Order: sequence, then C-alpha cells, then structure tokens
Amino acid sequence: MRILSGIQPSGRLHIGNFFGAMRQHLQLQAEHDCFYFIADYHALTSNPTPADIAGHILDVAMDYIALGLDTEKTIFWRQSDVPEVTELTWLLSCITPMGLLQRCTSYKDKVAQGLAPNHGLFAYPVLQAADILIYKSDLVPVGADQKQHIEVTRDIAIRFNNNYGRVFTVPEGHIIEAVAVVPGTDGQKMSKSYGNTIGIFEPEDSIRKKIMRIVTDSTPVEEPKDPDKCNVFALLKLVASPEELAEWENKYRNGGMGYSEAKKRLAELIIDYFKPFRQKRAEFENDVAYVKQVLAGGAKRARTVAAETLAEARKAVGLGA
Ligand code: ADP
Ligand code: TRP
Repeated sequence: MRILSGIQPSGRLHIGNFFGAMRQHLQLQAEHDCFYFIADYHALTSNPTPADIAGHILDVAMDYIALGLDTEKTIFWRQSDVPEVTELTWLLSCITPMGLLQRCTSYKDKVAQGLAPNHGLFAYPVLQAADILIYKSDLVPVGADQKQHIEVTRDIAIRFNNNYGRVFTVPEGHIIEAVAVVPGTDGQKMSKSYGNTIGIFEPEDSIRKKIMRIVTDSTPVEEPKDPDKCNVFALLKLVASPEELAEWENKYRNGGMGYSEAKKRLAELIIDYFKPFRQKRAEFENDVAYVKQVLAGGAKRARTVAAETLAEARKAVGLGA
C-alpha cells in the first residue's frame, strides 16, 4: 500500500506533532511504501520570510531524519523540488467547483486568525489534492483537522476520472486520527499558534522549566487528585511505562502527592525518551550537506512517479499530443 503525507515547515516540531502525527508516520514505514514530503509550497500561503522558510525546511528535515525516517526505504523530499505538482494543480483547478472550496473550513479559520486572504490560501486544498493524486497514494495519514481536505481530494479525483477516464487512484478515507490531543503547558491543545509547546529538541533545561510551569489545579498535596483531569498525567501517559503509569495513578488517587513530584518525573521521562534522537539531530546540524542530499535523492525518486502521472493527466485532458 502506498502511504503519503505532507508536513508543513512552519517551525520546530513539538511533542504534540510527534505523538499526534510523526510517530504514526514513522511506524508505517516498516510495512508500507511511504512517501513523505515537506510542504513548502503550502507554507508560502502564510507569507513567511525567505530566511524563515529556508530555515524551517531544514529543521523539519533534520527532525524527521533524526527521529527515525528510513532514508533508504522511504521517499522523503521537498514539495517544491517536484514542480510537476503545480501543473497538475492547474489541471485539477479547472474541474474544481468554487463551492467545494468555499465550504472548506480551514480557509475561513486561517483568515479569522489573521492570515491574509490570498488566492493560494483559498486554493490550498487543490494543491493538496495534486500532492496526493500525483503519487497515486492509497492512504493519507493526517490529523483530524485535515479530514475535509482528504474528502475534497476524493471528490476531485472522482470528477476527473468521470470526465476524462480513470487516471487517479481515489485515496481511501482511512485517516489515522491522532491518538489523543496532546495538551500544551496551559492545558489547551499543544500548538505553535498558542505558544504552549514543548519542543522535541529544545534544550533540556528549557523543557524542565516549561514542565514545572504546566497548569494544574490547586488541590492540596495531601488530598486525592483526579488523574483524568490533569495535564501532567495526560503527558505522563505518552512516555511512562504501563507499570509506572499505574503507580502514578495510585499516587494521584491516594493523595499525599504534590504535582511538582509528577512534573519532575515527567520532565526526566520526556528528556530520556528523546535523548537518542537528540544526539543524532546534533550530528545532522553539523552535516547539512547530508540532509540536503537526502532531500535531493528523494526528490529524484518522487519526480519520476510524478512525471508519469502528469503525462497521463495531460493526455487525458487533450494536452498530450
Ligand atoms: P500546530 O498546531 O502546532 O500548528 P500543525 O497543525 O502543523 O501543528 O500539526 C502538524 C501535525 O501534528 C498534524 O497532523 C496535527 O494533527 C498534529 N498535531 C499538532 N498538534 C497536536 C496535538 N496537540 N495533539 C495531537 N496532534 C497534534
Ligand atoms: N495541509 C497539511 C497540513 O497542514 C500538509 C499537507 C500538504 C498534506 N499536502 C499534503 C498532508 C498532502 C497530507 C497529504 O498538515
């Protein structure tokens, strides 16, 4: 089965991204044919500075490779290194009803958050459809926020195939939902837009400080506490062994435990969890040429597949001769 997903280069990745998306991406590599790319054309819709986007592309690439991306097996590239995808976007745009895009909530949400309402932002789902269809992907593992975009992709693929004959695989809607929403230090969803993140690779001391500041209720130390309502416990669930988690659950329910005790342990567990990856990442920081080489190799492999599908699509609409 061919799996494909795109990751926007919008800053250093946080543990919400890891447990909500990257971990699943990395696990799928063992059994499937995986295509993962850095969605830099998509990132341009929010007008980053040239220096920021260039830096973020390398950061995301280093994060993924350090966390276990299999650079031999998995095809990993930068979206804009395969410009065929923008030509396919045009072919798809011409059969995409305006109403389909007008119904997309992410455009409205982003404009409400203050992003400039440019055409790229509006047409974003068509570019995403081209990403998915050009590689004839079967399954697209993304978070729940992307579900509507996958439905738009299916709709566009079906329309194209009906109008011009079957060119595209209609990707199945098996969207792999995030295990759970990972809370940030303030208890809202961890998100770079809320400034409540714990970065996977931020300095250990800064991780400790942030964890000690996680919002908890004011139940006194001696009283029993409800683990299911605690942000610290929600994070412990991600990194503690089942045995250790059961011990913490008892401590919470029995009373006599202060939140700072749980926070200190959480900080150590998170730091230990990512320690081996942190060392690898440091190596890549000193060898950016290697990272660029991985992306260039991935782009070459991706481009071969993309060029074939684009040729089929051009022929189907009558531009092939
Ligand atoms: P952010 O909210 O920080 O901007 P993105 O929207 O770029 O993060 O998310 C990239 C991927 O990580 C998506 O697939 C998303 O579902 C997942 N993700 C982000 N934050 C969380 C979270 N707090 N819990 C679970 N998954 C998350
Ligand atoms: N829109 C996705 C996000 O913001 C990123 C993305 C771009 C993507 N193209 C894709 C995801 C194709 C899956 C498939 O997270």
